[in-house]
Amino acid sequence: MELAKRVQSLTPSSTLAITAKAKALKAEGHDVIGLGAGEPDFNTPEYILNAAKRAMDEGLTKYTPAGGVPELKNAITAKLQRDQNLNYTNEQIIVTTGAKHALFTLFQVLLNEGDEVIVPAPYWVSYPEQIKLAEGQPVIVNAEESNQFKITPEQLEKAVTSKTKAVIINSPSNPTGMMYSKEELQAIGEVCEKHDLLIVSDEIYEKLIYTEEQHVSIAELSDSLYDRTVIINGVSKSHSMTGWRIGFAAGRKDIIKAMSNMASHSTSNPTSIAQYAALAAYTGDESAVEEMREAFSERLDALHGWLTEIPGVECEKPSGAFYLFPNVQKAAESCGFKGVDEWVKALLDEEKVALVPGSGFGSPENVRLSYATSLDQLQQAAERIKRFVKNHQS
Ligand SMILES: Cc1ncc(COP(=O)(O)O)c(C=O)c1O
Repeated sequence: MELAKRVQSLTPSSTLAITAKAKALKAEGHDVIGLGAGEPDFNTPEYILNAAKRAMDEGLTKYTPAGGVPELKNAITAKLQRDQNLNYTNEQIIVTTGAKHALFTLFQVLLNEGDEVIVPAPYWVSYPEQIKLAEGQPVIVNAEESNQFKITPEQLEKAVTSKTKAVIINSPSNPTGMMYSKEELQAIGEVCEKHDLLIVSDEIYEKLIYTEEQHVSIAELSDSLYDRTVIINGVSKSHSMTGWRIGFAAGRKDIIKAMSNMASHSTSNPTSIAQYAALAAYTGDESAVEEMREAFSERLDALHGWLTEIPGVECEKPSGAFYLFPNVQKAAESCGFKGVDEWVKALLDEEKVALVPGSGFGSPENVRLSYATSLDQLQQAAERIKRFVKNHQS
C-alpha cells in the first residue's frame, strides 16, 4: 500500500537529522560536540517547574478548552500589551502545542490548493513543508547575505502573484539571527497592504536580542497591519521550555476561531499542566529570561570571535536568536570539498563537531551553529573546526 501523496515529498527536518547522527556517534562513545540543537541548554526556571507541580497536585490534569485555558489567554493578552503595546481579546488568541503547531494549524485554515505563501530564505526548515502539507505553494525569495539575509520590499513586490495569500516574517530569524528594523518592516508592510497579503509574524526569538535594537512586531506599526498580521510566539525559546510544547497565535477572530475548531479535532488541547507552567512563565518576573539572554550574549561574542579567525569562514555578527550562520563556501573549496554539505559531513566524521548545513534552510553556502551550549564546548568546537580546515588546506 502506498502512503498518501502529501507525505511522499516531505523532507525530514535537517536539524533533527544532524542532532540524531550526533547522538548516535555519542552513544558509540565518541566525544561529539553538537552545535545543531535549536533549543536553549538551560533548565526550565524553578518557578515554572513549581507551577506545573502545583497544577498536578490541584488536579488540573483534564481536558481544557481546545484553544487554551482562559487564565493563560489572559496572561498572553497582557504580555502582548506589555511587550508590543497591542490590544487583543481572548477570542483573538489560541494556545497551541508549541509555536510549530500554531503555524501548522494556521496554514491549514488559510490555504487552498495552489495558494502561494512567500517564504524569505534562509528560512526555518518547517515553513515550506507545512505550507505544502496544506496544499499551498511556498514561494522562496532569496534574501541577500549582503543585506543581512533580509528581503527588500522590491523583492517582495516582485514575488507577488494573483495567488499570493501570505508572507512570513521571522525576526529575529532562525537560522540567521538577523532582525528587521522598524523602517524595514514598515516598507514590507506597505507592499502587504497594497496586495492585501496576510503577514505571518514569527516572533519566537523576541526575547533573545543582544544589541541595542528593539524587537518590533509588524503588527504594531498601524491598525491595518495589526488586522492583517497573525503573531506567532511561545515559551520554548524565551523560557527554555521546548519540551513543554506551548505556543500561541494572535490575530483576527475568524482566523483564530477556525484554528480552534481545527485544534478541537486534532490535538483537543495543549497539555493542561504545561499550560499552567506557561501561565507562570508569562506572569512571573523575567529575571531568569534575562540571565539566559546574558549567557547567550557572552557566548555569541566569544564564538563569533573564534570563528571569524578561521580562514575562509565569513560571518556577520547577528543581533538575536542563538545561531551563527557563517558562509563557509571558501573554506569548503579551499579544503577540496565539492560543497558545504560534504564539508559538514567530513567535519562530523573527522572532528566530531555537528553543524547543520545551510542547504536545509535554502542557503547552501552557509552552515548553522547553535551556541546553546557551554562556552567551554564552543571553544573546543571552534578549535576543532580550525584544525579541520588547517589539515585539509595544507
Ligand atoms: C523560527 C521558529 N519558529 C517556530 C519554532 C517552533 O517553536 P516551538 O518549540 O514553540 O514549536 C522554532 C523552533 O525551532 C523556530 O526556530
